[in-house]
Amino acid sequence: MPNFLSQARMVPRVALLSTRAPRNPTKAWEVYWSRVQHTGAGGEVLWDSASDTEWNQYGGPIREHMDLTLPVIDVGCGNGTFTRRLAEVFPLALGVDVARSAVDRAEQESTGIARTRYRTIDFTTAGTGAALRSEYGPVNVFVRGVLHVLRKEQQRALARNLADLVGTTGRVLLTETNFRGNPLAYLQSLGASPGNIPQQLERAIAGIPVPGRFGARERSAAFPARDWHVAAEGPVTIEAVTMTSGGPTAIPGYFAMLRRNP
Ligand SMILES: C[S@@+](CC[C@H](N)C(=O)[O-])C[C@H]1O[C@@H](n2cnc3c(N)ncnc32)[C@H](O)[C@@H]1O
Repeated sequence: MPNFLSQARMVPRVALLSTRAPRNPTKAWEVYWSRVQHTGAGGEVLWDSASDTEWNQYGGPIREHMDLTLPVIDVGCGNGTFTRRLAEVFPLALGVDVARSAVDRAEQESTGIARTRYRTIDFTTAGTGAALRSEYGPVNVFVRGVLHVLRKEQQRALARNLADLVGTTGRVLLTETNFRGNPLAYLQSLGASPGNIPQQLERAIAGIPVPGRFGARERSAAFPARDWHVAAEGPVTIEAVTMTSGGPTAIPGYFAMLRRNP
C-alpha cells in the first residue's frame, strides 16, 4: 500500500484517540501518570526505555561541561528514571514534575537510592527558577523530552526559569525528540499502522499534549543568543520502549549543552 494511503487510514483512529486527551496540559499529565502501572523497558510509558545506550550518550558532555560538585535538577522528571542516573554523578539530584502522580511514582521507584529528591512544580510558572536558586544555589539542569511537549510561550517561560536557576556556573543539558516528518509519519516510525497502534502509543495519543519537534531552530527561539551560549549541540538517539520486534524504538533527537551569558 502506498505510504500516504497507509497514513490516511490511520487518521480516524488517531483523531478519535486524541479527542480523549484532557485539554488542560497539567490535568492531562496528572491523569496520564495516575493510570500508569508499569514503567521501564517492558512498561506502559512510551519514552521510558531506561536504556543504557541512550544514557551513555550524555556521559561525555556532562563530564566535559558540567561542574560535578553542583546539584542537578531534572526538569519534568516523570518517574525519575534519569534522576536516578544523575544521582550517580552529582551530589544531589532533584527531580521536579508538574504531575503529583509522577512525583509519587518517582519517589516510590527511588526508595533506598541515595541523593535523590522529588518535588511537584510547574516549571513554566514565573519565579520558579529564582525560588529554587535561593534554596539550592546555582545548579545544573537536565531536561529530557519536556520542551517538545510545551507550547512556544511555555518553552520561553521554562527557559527564563532556567536562566535564573543556573546562574553563570550551572549548565543546562537538554535532549529532545526531533523527528522532522509529518505527525503520521512519526507515528509510523514508532510502529503504528492502520488497525494497529501499540498500546504505549495509544495511551500517549489519548492522554497527553501532542508532541512537536525540538531541534536547533526551536532551541534558538526558546533560548535566545543574547542570553545563552551553546557549548555543544548535535544529534542523539532518544530510545523509547520496545513496541515492535527488535528492541527499543530509536527516535531521532537533538541535544544541546547551554550556559547562560554573564
Ligand atoms: C515525555 S515526559 C519525559 C519524562 C522524563 N524526563 C523522562 O525522560 O523519562 C515529559 C514530562 O514532563 C512533565 N511536564 C510537562 N509539563 C511540565 C511543566 N510545565 N513543568 C514540569 N514538568 C512538566 C510531564 O509530567 C512528564 O512527566
